[in-house]
Amino acid sequence: MTDNRNLETAWTYHDATKHSYASVRANPHFMDWANQPLPFKIYPALEPLRLPGEVRQTGVAALSAIAESVPARTSAAPDLEAVTQLLYLSAGITRQRNHPGGEIYFRAAACTGALYEVELYLVCGDLANLQAGIYHFAPAEFGLRKLRAGDYRRVLLEATSGELAIGYAPLTVICTCTYWRNAWKYQSRTYRHFGWDNGTLLANLLAVATALGLSTQVVCGFVDANVNRMLDIDPLREVAFSLVALGHAAALPPPSPADISPLSLETVPLSRREVDYPLMRKMHAASSLDSGEEVKTWRAHPSMTNSPTPAGSVVPLQGVQLSPLSDAEIPRDPIEQVILRRGSSRKFSQTPITLPQLSTMLARATRGVPADFLDPPGAQLNDLYLIVNAVEGLPSGAYVFHRNRGQLECLKPGNFRAEAGYLGLEQQLPADAAVDIFFLADLRPILQRFGNRGYRAVQLEAGILGGKLYLGAYAQRLGATGLTFYDDDVIRFFSPHAEGKSAIFLVAVGNSAKHKP
Ligand SMILES: Cc1cc2nc3c(=O)[nH]c(=O)nc-3n(C[C@H](O)[C@H](O)[C@H](O)COP(=O)(O)O)c2cc1C
Repeated sequence: MTDNRNLETAWTYHDATKHSYASVRANPHFMDWANQPLPFKIYPALEPLRLPGEVRQTGVAALSAIAESVPARTSAAPDLEAVTQLLYLSAGITRQRNHPGGEIYFRAAACTGALYEVELYLVCGDLANLQAGIYHFAPAEFGLRKLRAGDYRRVLLEATSGELAIGYAPLTVICTCTYWRNAWKYQSRTYRHFGWDNGTLLANLLAVATALGLSTQVVCGFVDANVNRMLDIDPLREVAFSLVALGHAAALPPPSPADISPLSLETVPLSRREVDYPLMRKMHAASSLDSGEEVKTWRAHPSMTNSPTPAGSVVPLQGVQLSPLSDAEIPRDPIEQVILRRGSSRKFSQTPITLPQLSTMLARATRGVPADFLDPPGAQLNDLYLIVNAVEGLPSGAYVFHRNRGQLECLKPGNFRAEAGYLGLEQQLPADAAVDIFFLADLRPILQRFGNRGYRAVQLEAGILGGKLYLGAYAQRLGATGLTFYDDDVIRFFSPHAEGKSAIFLVAVGNSAKHKP
């Protein structure tokens, strides 16, 4: 049995990193500001190649870009300007603010604690104005640092055991996650954040790619060691988490250069000292795939259709039909504008949003993500449960979202603002929001099917859908924020319907109120 099939590791990690009323109070952890990690990975010996300063606009409506994807095998390759758009709008610095701990460089996608532990690398063949190579994206300089010259796409094709979306992609973006940068604040829970923060970034990346006419495929099935080795990252500190194939070329790439020897490139230390959280590295090792054969078996998993209805339920659905806006009715604010407008709400006004606004957000965020772990296309691992505080035309209460029927099923009516505030780690934001959208998943069949790696996939999917909800809210001039939560209390609140499931993610949506920092 491979480690990936030993499911105890995922369960141990999940249970050990739950938040509860008691665990939060018992945790002596504090943020050591003098040892705060650098927010950027810097290779001091490599001169960055500056990206064009002007970022082109597609003008495609954000609400279309988050909902749609370009059909697989549509011939298209990004040029340098498209690469610039993709990088800037998913991981670029979009705002900066002075803070007692120093300057904070806010990025295009939401990220827990604004710690930005996700790094992006490009692996491409020759593109218009960008030579074949492996590059690291440097947001601070808004540039690319070339790590290897030449076309290394075959290495990725092999590492993914012949994943054709990767094979034919002119460009693949590799997302890595750096433990310490996030664990400085969040300790072992950081491994969950890898999925969340990589996911919100991917929501932007996928939407921009769609707006650019590029097909996409998120790939979680790869031989970890081979990808890490190709990037020459230190897997005790930084690990490849997801790959995104972008575009489609006419042919598979030529053989890669034989040399993938270590680069021995110096990087600037993130902090004076780093604290190790072995639970996360154990989780990562146990969800790693060790050979092409293992990747192939992993990918050939049987299809899983998801339905938030518990097996054996005989209660006929008392659903509220959603009323999403049609393509002709949606606000047409372009994806670029919406990404730049986005920023997590720091205070909600308690005023209601409308049912069509909520419906549009839910419907458009959940139309499916092209990913190697979501089969058939349109499948979803997470179920959405809502606390509705203030939506015109929808009684306040707890609901479950039936995606396939476009309905919300009321689990219990009532005013749950206080409960929402408590469940969202006793914060005011979820109490004041118009709606709190909880992502719950039944980890049992997911881990059964994908092994421990299913834990990565379910967190990543939640982050992607959460990121789409963010964009769906801001496209309608609403506000949103990701939130953390008291795991088991969330399940208790939505039970008996949610019995046996696990809390994965939370996004609050509403009207932003002016907030004095
Ligand atoms: C998954 C996730 C969880 C978050 N949890 C919280 C939270 O519990 N409380 C909070 O105030 N903000 C939370 N945030 C918001 C982040 O602090 C915010 O994204 C970060 O500071 C970057 O700022 P921006 O989103 O405005 O660009 C969360 C964000 C994400 C993506």
